[in-house]
Amino acid sequence: MRRPVIAGNWKMHLSLAEGLALATEIRNRCGRFRTGEVVLAPVAVQIHPIAQRLADSNIAVAAQNCHAAAKGAFTGELSPTQILDAGATYVIIGHSERRQFFGETDEGVGKKGRSALDHGLIPILCIGETLAEREAGRTLEVVCRQLDAAIAPLSPEEVAGVIIAYEPVWAIGTGRTATPNQAQEVHAAIRRRLAEKTSPAVAERVRLQYGGSVKPDNIAALMAEPDIDGALVGGASLEAQSFIQIVTGALGAESN
Ligand code: PGA
Repeated sequence: MRRPVIAGNWKMHLSLAEGLALATEIRNRCGRFRTGEVVLAPVAVQIHPIAQRLADSNIAVAAQNCHAAAKGAFTGELSPTQILDAGATYVIIGHSERRQFFGETDEGVGKKGRSALDHGLIPILCIGETLAEREAGRTLEVVCRQLDAAIAPLSPEEVAGVIIAYEPVWAIGTGRTATPNQAQEVHAAIRRRLAEKTSPAVAERVRLQYGGSVKPDNIAALMAEPDIDGALVGGASLEAQSFIQIVTGALGAESN
């Protein structure tokens, strides 16, 4: 049984006061889920205060990026050890915005994932095709290429412990979500590829999140698909009500 995981990616939004207020409300309503995991990814400078605010809850904190090195002369970067120090336990790697705007490569994603695991962080490895790639019928080719590079430096046992987020670029922030069928088709292909590259048993353990315009009204249908184990939520994670609805829609009724 894979434990579902809902993550909120706050991107470069929210002041510290807004982030703390949002985290507090989410903690009060979603901080005790036993049926799955909730993860919040604030901007880097807020990781520490948000993690402190969530200290007595089941909610984990993620960074939105990391450098592959543990330390060094890399002005402006954050190392996995520093992220862990600040209180995060997850790190999002290879988000399409990083690939699109910051030159992140397939190979770089592999290195960062390797380093995250070496330093005790769980990577959320993001993959997904652009609209042009989908329309050219290249979705599975692109997604498998990105997946292969992301897991190449990892042992099968390590692969079993990471989260893969399938985020079609054309669905991110556009309001145009993949249909549950479209998402499931790619998720099933990702799991098949994982089975080929590791083993069927490992592939069965890997949690696959869907991301791209996840909202309270589409989460249940997405989660009903057999290979969708959670969601990476952008816009709808910035508001307590919609994120809490997504969490309850995915993980069931609140349990104390
Ligand atoms: P969105 O973003 O939910 O606003 O589409 C998803 C993401 O970028 O992770």
